[in-house]
Amino acid sequence: MRVAVFSAKPYDQQFLNAANGDGNHELVFFEARLTPATAPLAAGFSAVCAFINDQLSEETVRAIAATGTQLIALRSAGFNNVDLKVAKELGLTVVRVPAYSPYAVAEHAVGLILMLNRKLYRAYNRVRDDNFALQGLLGFDLHGATVGVVGTGKIGQCFSKIMNGFGCKLLAYDPYPSQVCLDLGMEYVPLPDLLAASDVVSLHCPLMPETHHLLNADSLSGLKTGAMVINTSRGGLIDTPAMIAAIKSGQVGYLGIDVYEQEANLFFEDLSDTVIQDDDFQLLQSFPNVVITAHQAFFTREALTNIAETTISNINQCAQGEACPNQVK
Ligand code: NAI
Repeated sequence: MRVAVFSAKPYDQQFLNAANGDGNHELVFFEARLTPATAPLAAGFSAVCAFINDQLSEETVRAIAATGTQLIALRSAGFNNVDLKVAKELGLTVVRVPAYSPYAVAEHAVGLILMLNRKLYRAYNRVRDDNFALQGLLGFDLHGATVGVVGTGKIGQCFSKIMNGFGCKLLAYDPYPSQVCLDLGMEYVPLPDLLAASDVVSLHCPLMPETHHLLNADSLSGLKTGAMVINTSRGGLIDTPAMIAAIKSGQVGYLGIDVYEQEANLFFEDLSDTVIQDDDFQLLQSFPNVVITAHQAFFTREALTNIAETTISNINQCAQGEACPNQVK
């Protein structure tokens, strides 16, 4: 198949070319994001390959379908950026990579917790500046702390196992409890109870209409005072202005995020010479108890290998007219 690969960074090219072996498919890489404005680049390609910040809105999907695209191969698990209704109406197949490394994301969430709790970002800078004072670096033991896990699917389960190893008390909220988590001795409780009891709340549920702004002014007011919130899932789970207010009031004591609701305008690009126009983002950056990473939780060798190999295997199956288990219905 001729495949137009959008949002293609050098690392995407490296791993996809390796997975494509001796050039089974013709992969053409575009660094641009797929948007209605860049959709004409896909003209004549039977497949487009897209990532999380590509905009497969109704307008884009109609445009690529009109110029011959039949397959959308997502290099992500999430598909909230695709207008599935229109894709179905136009007969486009959508495939995804349901799991590539739950360990990568879970381990990154734990990294954010340690970074915030032990103030490693401040300690690193201090020591480089020959400032060896400890004042301001006080943390708390994770052993014995209560950790609330919202969403106990693949990533939530890996995260829970790690935190269980730290000796934390684990609470969970998920409409579909996991046997793995029950076997760890985790207690499933309603979301308000989890928020009220947890020292650390980590979000691992998908972004859907029901989970949009799951943490808003109302739910944040029910948090244990000074709790830590970690979000490695999707930015839209948090109402950012409400979170800023909760940090200012001290309701939230620490925030670690790898995702941000308006990240499409920022993440994956070097904007270090640019004046960032997003005031909420700049305000968050200015707080001493907030750590932000730019959607890198998935970014390990193992995950990129799995993403590339599954994507090529999805394209192979679709090219051969076989049923693809990773098709999004
Ligand atoms: P999964 O599908 O295995 O698990 C999701 C879990 O959330 C399921 O157990 C489901 O029952 C639960 N859930 C659904 N609605 C819920 C609700 N209203 N409240 C609480 N739980 C609910 O997904 P997986 O692989 O664990 O991924 C979780 C999320 O992590 C993805 O949806 C994606 O947004 C995010 N992610 C982030 C990455 C990053 O680099 N930062 C990389 C990969 C995924």
